Amino acid sequence: MTQDELKKAVAKAAMDHIAPHLNRKSVIGVGTGSTANFFIDFLADYKNEFDGAVASSEATAERLKGHGIPVYDLNAIDELEYYVDGADETNERLELIKGGGAALTREKIVAAVAKTFICIADESKKVDILGAFPLPVEVIPMARSHVGREIVKLGGDPVYRDGVTTDNGNIIIDIHNMDISRPIQVEERINNIVGVVTNGLFARRPADLLLLGTSEGVKSIP
Ligand code: 5RP
Repeated sequence: MTQDELKKAVAKAAMDHIAPHLNRKSVIGVGTGSTANFFIDFLADYKNEFDGAVASSEATAERLKGHGIPVYDLNAIDELEYYVDGADETNERLELIKGGGAALTREKIVAAVAKTFICIADESKKVDILGAFPLPVEVIPMARSHVGREIVKLGGDPVYRDGVTTDNGNIIIDIHNMDISRPIQVEERINNIVGVVTNGLFARRPADLLLLGTSEGVKSIP
């Protein structure tokens, strides 16, 4: 199977997982990226069976609206049962690296509110130790050099993501060669640097369920 076929298979599996729990009041949190896009397309088939969605990016909001799915501001929502999103890397404990699409901050906020975070990913994303994928950090523009220097002190190699402005008007620094054998500690240390909005480690709030697309079918972890 191609990577896209695996992404589509896990998106369908996520839809099958939540479909029995939908009702007219349900609002679904929706992530960003190509895997999340497949999920949005499946979600559209159920648009008359739930209320609407909260989007983790402007791009996702546009795709949802394009399907006629109402998009709500997160502040208008009391409860979010499910958040469905992809990842750039996941380990066995469902700690993730996210932010390849620069949407990490809004993704982390929606994940924090959701009761159940379902991560959908093809098997290329599963690793023993996080960090081969450069760790994205959203940074306030005027703090770029300061944050870069602090990252070097932590042992990482910061690389400015040229030409990218986040939906929040900030920049992205990708950290290469960082030791992420202790993900919670690294997440907290980077978030403590003044000028960092957040980083793409989802370790304090990992996914609750991983649907992993493999050539033998979709594996459900745990
Ligand atoms: C966006 C993300 C995405 O979930 C991550 O980059 C995976 O993308 P894709 O599903 O296209 O492989 O974190 O900020």
